[in-house]
Amino acid sequence: MKKILVTGANGQLGRCIRDAAADYPDFEFVFVSKEELDIENIASLKDFFGKNNFSNCINTAAYTNVEKAESEQERAFAINAEAVKNLASICKENDVALLHISTDYVFDGKKKAAYVETDATCPLNVYGASKLKGEQFIQEIFDRFFILRTSWLYSQYGHNFLKTILKHSKEGKPLTITTEQTGTPTNANDLAKALLQIIVQDSTNYGVYHFSNGGETTWFGFAEEILLQSKNLKEANLAKTNQYRTFAARPEYSVLDNTKAHTILKLKCINWRESLKTVLKKTVIN
Ligand SMILES: NC(=O)c1ccc[n+]([C@@H]2O[C@H](COP(=O)([O-])OP(=O)(O)OC[C@H]3O[C@@H](n4cnc5c(N)ncnc54)[C@H](OP(=O)(O)O)[C@@H]3O)[C@@H](O)[C@H]2O)c1
Repeated sequence: MKKILVTGANGQLGRCIRDAAADYPDFEFVFVSKEELDIENIASLKDFFGKNNFSNCINTAAYTNVEKAESEQERAFAINAEAVKNLASICKENDVALLHISTDYVFDGKKKAAYVETDATCPLNVYGASKLKGEQFIQEIFDRFFILRTSWLYSQYGHNFLKTILKHSKEGKPLTITTEQTGTPTNANDLAKALLQIIVQDSTNYGVYHFSNGGETTWFGFAEEILLQSKNLKEANLAKTNQYRTFAARPEYSVLDNTKAHTILKLKCINWRESLKTVLKKTVIN
């Protein structure tokens, strides 16, 4: 029986994997929060792996605050790069296949066409640089990895763009949203299912893959669609801006080309608008 460790399990993607796991009664899952297993603590990692006979590790643990990372570079690199290096070494020692998540922010967005896995990386912000370093460490350490780069993750869980838009519109707050970046919103539930499908397949086609929902839009386009589908567009006070100031620079265009994931891993990349419908049904705003 496969025994699958999921780190960072109280995060957005971790919680979506918990839900998706219900469809896999033949797998044994071990979900650990940061409090239960801190991936920065190498002794705890060694001990935990030593006590369990894992077949796979899905690492969803990460430093994900793109804005704060600009002033917390050390923390971002400690979690997204150094801890990932240790985790990869321990996976190698214990013969555990690692499934790891990375980001479209490893690219600078100057290509103006969907990015393929072999395109040159050039992160514009600290978060992207720390995630890229994590990818590089894994690839230097061993071969049994899947790195899935994804983009603009959202779901019914945690703090994310979808929930912010719904909350602000419910409170009647004005929404001024940027048109300056183009990318693809990705339903974290779809990513969770994709990760489990890779494990089911027993695939040995290890490597770096791009996995996002299909299509592309801007953050403004995403907000507009959220309000349209949730029937709040008419009342919403929604405006565009092309001068939204942030600490972290972001790629202007970071659409990911999913062809490799589709052809080699047979993963389905549903259009983002279609996938949004399913998340909206599950999302509750208090
Ligand atoms: N969110 C996006 O838009 C996006 C886009 C592209 C790629 N990604 C990648 O997708 C993955 C999942 O992201 P997400 O949206 O699920 O992020 P998330 O909601 O922030 O979840 C990350 C989890 O990792 C935990 N964590 C942080 N440091 C840890 C440590 N040292 N040991 C163990 N756990 C730790 C966090 O706990 P605390 O909250 O207590 O710190 C949190 O529960 C990440 O690799 C992220 O880089 C995300």
